[in-house]
Amino acid sequence: MANEKIGWGIIGCGVIAPIHADAVQANEQAELVQVYDIVEERANKLAEDYDCSYVTNLEELLANDDIQAVSICTPSGMHSEYAIAAAQAGKHILCEKPLDITLEKIDAMIEAAEAYDVKLAGVFQYRTYPIPQKVREAVRNGKLGKLVLGDCYQKLFRSHEYYGSGEWRATWELDGGGALMNQGIHGIDLLLWIMGNVARVSAYCRRLVRNIEVEDTSVANLEFANGALGTLVTTTSVTPGENIRTEIHGDKGSIKLQGNDIVQWAIEGEEEVTGESTDEGTASDPTAVTAAGHTEHVRDLCEAIINDREPTIPGHEARKSVELIKAIYLSSRLGGNTVELPLSYEDDGPGIYPPQTWPEW
Ligand SMILES: NC(=O)c1ccc[n+]([C@@H]2O[C@H](COP(=O)([O-])OP(=O)(O)OC[C@H]3O[C@@H](n4cnc5c(N)ncnc54)[C@H](O)[C@@H]3O)[C@@H](O)[C@H]2O)c1
Repeated sequence: MANEKIGWGIIGCGVIAPIHADAVQANEQAELVQVYDIVEERANKLAEDYDCSYVTNLEELLANDDIQAVSICTPSGMHSEYAIAAAQAGKHILCEKPLDITLEKIDAMIEAAEAYDVKLAGVFQYRTYPIPQKVREAVRNGKLGKLVLGDCYQKLFRSHEYYGSGEWRATWELDGGGALMNQGIHGIDLLLWIMGNVARVSAYCRRLVRNIEVEDTSVANLEFANGALGTLVTTTSVTPGENIRTEIHGDKGSIKLQGNDIVQWAIEGEEEVTGESTDEGTASDPTAVTAAGHTEHVRDLCEAIINDREPTIPGHEARKSVELIKAIYLSSRLGGNTVELPLSYEDDGPGIYPPQTWPEW
């Protein structure tokens, strides 16, 4: 195995698929073999662009012995059915965020990966960047002292046209939510990764601007398992969109990130670092994703396969952000009442309550 390339398939050939194709091509250990979509034109286009074959019949891709791993790039609420089919066919899996949109379906994919002895890795590309890693290390090594606050502000912009660009977008059934489940999950994953798990939450979710089913704005109060508190603000309806701001404060220091830039690094006994934010990111443009993080995800899964180890973001890690989002939705449905984690499957449901009438303006 060590000298052979890992054959890769891509399931779903929409906006994010070329990033996976770039990431596979950037890895010497991997080779893009075949892509699949229900829409032939999309599969054909991706195959032409990346010089591989395409199919519109999933069984064909799953029966292809030249493929050992697949990227799942379908609408979010379809990830688990494709992942389980891939696991049953013995293919390792790199799955886009969110792993799926219910905890029950996520657990079914984790169980299938275990049962069929394949690796299941989640995509959260921000975790692969050096700056967030440096922040996490400082926090985890106690450099900030006792953690007091872990805040995340995601003030993003998504246009009306964006929501119209796919029928599944901003639906409870297939996107599983809005600003939180689709866009905000990145900052939420990062906050949890740096601060540790959340124990309880109270939240409001609202649909304030866009004519969509799901929330476009949410505010949540968090209490982490380590006792620190935090605020999570997430919207896709403000102009101009800003890069995600993550602010971690302890009694001995504070670190603030904007996107992928450090805007404050103030720790007792260390020289303070500040810098202007230059990273444009996906604050307003959902297509501005670069392949650097995905390249690292593909490399990591290849190594996990070759060395038979867990991927860096295994299923149970990628599940955490969905559980917190579900807790926020439950609290919002309960009018802002406190919700304790972990959740049970019965706690699942949409995040907007009471049902809203459409604003007049
Ligand atoms: N990591 C990131 O930053 C990032 C960025 C964008 C999207 N994503 C994730 O990638 C996934 C796909 O998002 P996208 O923006 O590429 O979506 P998209 O709508 O552009 O693409 C989805 C593709 O899946 C295909 N598909 C396959 N099987 C299908 C089926 N049974 N029904 C309907 N469509 C089917 C569609 O035809 C389409 O080509 C989502 O889960 C999203 O959250 C992640």
